[in-house]
Amino acid sequence: MTYNQITDALLSWYDLYDRDMPWRDEADPYKVWISEIMLQQTQVATVRDYYKRWIKRFPTIKSVSESSMDEILKYWEGLGYYSRARNFYYSCKTLSEMDCSVPKGMDEFQKLKGVGPYIASAVQSIAFNMPVGVVDGNVNRVVSRYYAYQDHPSKNKKKIEKFMSLIINDQRPGDINQAIMDLGRYVCKPGMPLCDECPISKGCKALAKGVQSDLPIKMKNKIKPHYDVAVGIIWDKSRLLITKRKEEGLLGGLWEFPGGKMEKNESIKSAIKREIKEELSINIKPDILIHQVDHHYSHFSVTINAINCKYNGDKIKLNGPTNFKWINTSQLRSYAFPKASIKLFKTIESL
Ligand code: ADE
Repeated sequence: MTYNQITDALLSWYDLYDRDMPWRDEADPYKVWISEIMLQQTQVATVRDYYKRWIKRFPTIKSVSESSMDEILKYWEGLGYYSRARNFYYSCKTLSEMDCSVPKGMDEFQKLKGVGPYIASAVQSIAFNMPVGVVDGNVNRVVSRYYAYQDHPSKNKKKIEKFMSLIINDQRPGDINQAIMDLGRYVCKPGMPLCDECPISKGCKALAKGVQSDLPIKMKNKIKPHYDVAVGIIWDKSRLLITKRKEEGLLGGLWEFPGGKMEKNESIKSAIKREIKEELSINIKPDILIHQVDHHYSHFSVTINAINCKYNGDKIKLNGPTNFKWINTSQLRSYAFPKASIKLFKTIESL
């Protein structure tokens, strides 16, 4: 197939299927931008509801910039990769010092925090009709199969970008990008693709060779580390203590029950006493184990051991966490917590 034929075939297929996604009805660059940030690491099905809730509360760049990091993270709670939300918040704050509009142009846009080549090309092509091709996991898979590349897509980055630059045009660049991403998601799927439904199957080298299910070549799976964590549900009468994680890094800026990783051969109670002393400079008295939960994050898994503890009135001095609060159990759900901690809520609320 020629590049023009590929483009036409993708667009006809895209127009025929017209997948219903709430952000696709929007011409507002701000809405395109936030949808692409959410979609970058998260499935369409999950993004749908988060996006709708977000737009209701934050319809403009200004509304984001006038909010607080806590509220932003609460609206992001459960979506993961929280640096996306933090960076978006900072970027909106930056733009609010100017005219609150999304910058036009790849270079200008990429000066903002959290805007890399993927976000920039997706937003600039969809919102401003700029002819720049996107490369995401779906595109990598489609192109790697189309040419039957025998190495991992990361080894063919330049070639894949080149392919995208050749199929993009300045009439419907956003639709071409979205068409190939949709193709990767719904048809040229991982594992067993649906080649009968593919508009570009007649040019596909992997299909011609019968190797479409073996491509693209995968990286060896890294083994996910597992952490045993001890956390204290520290009570002062009917209120309990929550602490805020520092902004940088994993689950940054979220609230949690204080505690940390257990060391080898350490008991849950010693771990909790040690961690609380290190992080808050207080001595607590661990009582009973109230709940154990397992949770799988994308890059690691945890077992959280939650222990009821008694507060003895010592003055809290923070070393690690950036804030703390004493709250009633009824307030738990107004703070943004990691998913694993949320699994403890029911037990805590029933105490
Ligand atoms: N994946 C990420 N953004 C997308 C979009 N706009 N359309 C289809 N798939 C996507």
